[in-house]
Amino acid sequence: MKQTWINEAFNGELPEDFHGGVKWQSPSNIALVKYWGKKEGQLPQNPSVSFTLQNCRTETSVFFEKSDRFGLTFRFDGKPNEAFQQKIERFLMDHLDCLPFLNQLDLHIQSHNTFPHSSGIASSASSMSALVLCLLDIERMAKGQDKVDLTKASFLARLASGSACRSVFPKVALWGATEDLKGSSDEYAVTFYDELAPVFQSYHDSILIVSDAQKEVSSRAGHALMDVNPYAASRYAVARNDTKEILDVLHTGDLERFVQITESEAMQLHALMMCSKPSFTLIQPNTLRIIQNIREFRMETDIPVSFTLDAGPNVHVLYPDQDAEIVERFIMDELERYCHGGHWIADQIGMGPSQMN
Ligand code: PMV
Repeated sequence: MKQTWINEAFNGELPEDFHGGVKWQSPSNIALVKYWGKKEGQLPQNPSVSFTLQNCRTETSVFFEKSDRFGLTFRFDGKPNEAFQQKIERFLMDHLDCLPFLNQLDLHIQSHNTFPHSSGIASSASSMSALVLCLLDIERMAKGQDKVDLTKASFLARLASGSACRSVFPKVALWGATEDLKGSSDEYAVTFYDELAPVFQSYHDSILIVSDAQKEVSSRAGHALMDVNPYAASRYAVARNDTKEILDVLHTGDLERFVQITESEAMQLHALMMCSKPSFTLIQPNTLRIIQNIREFRMETDIPVSFTLDAGPNVHVLYPDQDAEIVERFIMDELERYCHGGHWIADQIGMGPSQMN
């Protein structure tokens, strides 16, 4: 597939006066079936499935002008950010074969997250997908085409940050080749939002910020530890089965199974971390307090609220729109006390990236 995009990339001479600005917003996503463990070339060991979020987004502007060589400046929230600039430069240099026109451009990138920087929410999915969409938009202008190819955007976003490939599609995305979804691939994500049961079309995800501290172990290091995890082979088999099941659940709207799969996947992710060598733990006492409260609330009320976890201590509370009022009251009354500074973010399934003015 990569060769196709290399062949299709704009490779001509840009006009001397080629300049302008593009702006895209792209959201974060939350995995229901987790990607944890990868192969050479940032390819996943198992398929993963995620909801695309609505409110946790990155907004990125790229101003560009013709130059005799590639140049880049990067500002986050109006300030230069050396670490992020280097990450972007490395990514672009490694994949110039897919974006050769960059050799003729000076880029000035400005980026901003709609969620607080210190919320502990991983921003690489939203930021890398927003950046890639801006770059492909510039290429689109150079080629005189009318639309950005979202599959190519997903492919490039994956090379920047694995799970970012799932952020470019509306509502729900699957990344990883599986016989359970036609067209699926290890190289990019695909969406199947038109097959989503009505209850999931407006599903909620409230993100409870247990800690806003920087992660002790990066997800890069976490993925690497899966290479020597004694449970790796069985994890990948279970993840394949969970993928098959969640596809069915998302289609039928079976909330009882949705609760089971999402919570089991979250716990498996953290169990894998705990039995890695060296072992590490990202959940915190308040993560477990919240989990216990959610399970009790579900037992008492029969409301199908469930939780999932990212690679960190924060808890994503998942629930249908029809129960939003009562669940949000429960969060305020019972769970907010376990959040850092009482902080949580009300989010829900969203429509994916869009171009901004
Ligand atoms: O995309 P990465 O390398 O940051 O890994 C993401 C890993 C998890 O967030 C834990 C799971 C997932 O599928 O998003």
